[in-house]
Amino acid sequence: MASSSHEHKAAHSDCNCTCGSDAQSHEPELAATPSKNSALNAWVEKITDLCKPARIQWCDGSQAEYDRLCAEMVAAGTLTPLNPALRPGSFLARSTENDVARVEERTFICSARKEDAGPTNNWLAPDQARETLSKLFDGCMAGRTMYVIPFSMGPLGSDISHIGVEITDSPYVVVSMRTMTRMGNAVLDVLGEKGEFVPCLHSVGAPLVEGQKDTAWPCNDTKYICHFPETSEIWSFGSGYGGNALLGKKCFALRIASNMARREKWLAEHMLIVGLESPAGKKIYVAAAFPSACGKTNLAMAVAPAALSGWKVTTIGDDIAWIKPKADGKFYAINPEAGLFGVAPGTSEKTNPNAMAALTRDCIFTNVALTEDGDVWWEGMTDTPPARATDWKGQPWTPESGRVAAHPNARFTAPATNCPSLDAAWDDPAGVPISAFLFGGRRPTTVPLVTQAASWDDGVYMAATLGSETTPAAAGAVGVVRRDPFAMKPFCGYNIGDYFAHWIETGSKVAAPPAIFAVNWFRLDAQKKFLWPGYSDNLRVLKWVFERVTNPTGDNHGKVALGLAPRKQDIDLTGLALSDERFAELMKLDSSEWQTEINSQSEFFDSLGSHLPTQLRATQQAVLKAFETK
Ligand code: GTP
Ligand code: SPV
Ligand code: MN
Repeated sequence: MASSSHEHKAAHSDCNCTCGSDAQSHEPELAATPSKNSALNAWVEKITDLCKPARIQWCDGSQAEYDRLCAEMVAAGTLTPLNPALRPGSFLARSTENDVARVEERTFICSARKEDAGPTNNWLAPDQARETLSKLFDGCMAGRTMYVIPFSMGPLGSDISHIGVEITDSPYVVVSMRTMTRMGNAVLDVLGEKGEFVPCLHSVGAPLVEGQKDTAWPCNDTKYICHFPETSEIWSFGSGYGGNALLGKKCFALRIASNMARREKWLAEHMLIVGLESPAGKKIYVAAAFPSACGKTNLAMAVAPAALSGWKVTTIGDDIAWIKPKADGKFYAINPEAGLFGVAPGTSEKTNPNAMAALTRDCIFTNVALTEDGDVWWEGMTDTPPARATDWKGQPWTPESGRVAAHPNARFTAPATNCPSLDAAWDDPAGVPISAFLFGGRRPTTVPLVTQAASWDDGVYMAATLGSETTPAAAGAVGVVRRDPFAMKPFCGYNIGDYFAHWIETGSKVAAPPAIFAVNWFRLDAQKKFLWPGYSDNLRVLKWVFERVTNPTGDNHGKVALGLAPRKQDIDLTGLALSDERFAELMKLDSSEWQTEINSQSEFFDSLGSHLPTQLRATQQAVLKAFETK
């Protein structure tokens, strides 16, 4: 049984101290461990000695534990309960103003050799990182509770799943992990005495000082998000936010898992997974990689426009895919997560009704605005903003105040099971077979709505050369086009050139690997307006993908310099008043824009040195030639 309810008494029944009040000088209240895994118990003991918490709590994953932690955070001012008549079981969290997004500058791959981190990652020598981190973590949990969170990425018992254990001093992380992963006692049962786990250590880096009041969102100006790929360890210090702190997500499921996947011959990707069903009842699964805040959650639960009635999208996952080639020559994918950590701004009944339905209860909203009746609001949620609200910083706000009410990277945390479009197989340990991969970025110019690669290797070239404008999902400048290969620039935990080689090799092992497409929902016209309506209308593109995959030899495409592309008659535009000129603009491949694009790709390729697979240069040369002979 879980120890959480009797943890306190167990340790202190014969102790006359005032618990936690003189934490620095006191042995922690040791909870009886519910784990039979000696490696885990030894690690927890070691971290206890290092971090010196006031008490330890093994998380059992129960609703009662979740409710108790939420109540404690309400009392501490970390969470504001929302109006139960409007958002039952839901809360608002406001972070501090400098802890609102992933911090790529402070994110490190600590491989033994710098070369193995590659030019797209920050690198720290493992010894140096350990020395720095050991000092930062020494005593960092003084006065706080240290929570031990056993979690599974992926369905319990799936051969694609992996177990992690996060140690954290943030109750916000605990409740978020309960929504985002399969968490608690059931995981310890699967782990057993000898099972392997990825140790994920996290602290907000704000020890409690005696006599000093705690802050509602503790964090530290010094931040380190460190990954040790050779030993599969994560150390995260100083931030309480999203991908910096919920270590199952980007740190484990992408940066560490990409290393595991390379060693074990599978793929760990920044991809949504959807089912796509035709009116005739034929169904395929598609996985799509778009950079952060570029439309994965929206496509993952899109509803068909009226003109495509009978077409249906079902959701397996909205952010991460773990994919294994199996003996039948197909790629099977699972969603390692169990919840949605989605961008709030722009989410509305019009753009994403399934997300709105998923947000009706049992959610945590971070950095959105609070309305006068105790509900949430964000830019784009309704056409008419509320007359008055409290903004994400806790300040009074009106539409006239000239600033945003919600932070541009405000997020919702919702259980996947809240989502009406959830696929029946979302929790299937076997995964679902993938027929197509899509890669897309935010490109105001240059990149057409959709093209298909002529081969697997050409598709790897398309994905490897993906570019996108930066977004508020990471701290730093927004709207700058950068290379974001495979939408993995911030998430690939090893040399990206080796990662390209891994993709080429993985595809070469199977007879008929998935088809690969490049998409761009974000091309602008001369007035800087989106050329393509996006959102549900993206299903028109998915319908063409479906037709290409199910009828590859059909008369449903033309040839272009980048491979294959739909002619206007190939794509279902019923009900859209899209002129021939506008379609041509959407699909345009401009030679001079592509000269610039290819130069930028070459600069990136050059930075990879001998790690760049030769096939990618060859494809690039062929593309260049196709433009020249046009
Ligand atoms: P992460 O969770 O950061 O990985 O983001 P994501 O890829 O899931 O992006 P999400 O679907 O949350 O979309 C991010 C922003 O892009 C939101 O403000 C959306 O409203 C907007 N967006 C999504 N799809 C489209 C689209 O097809 N067209 C346009 N114009 N905007 C879109
Ligand atoms: C992203 O930035 O791609 C996200 C949010 O999905 S975070 O969990 O912060 O990584
Ligand atoms: Mn993401």
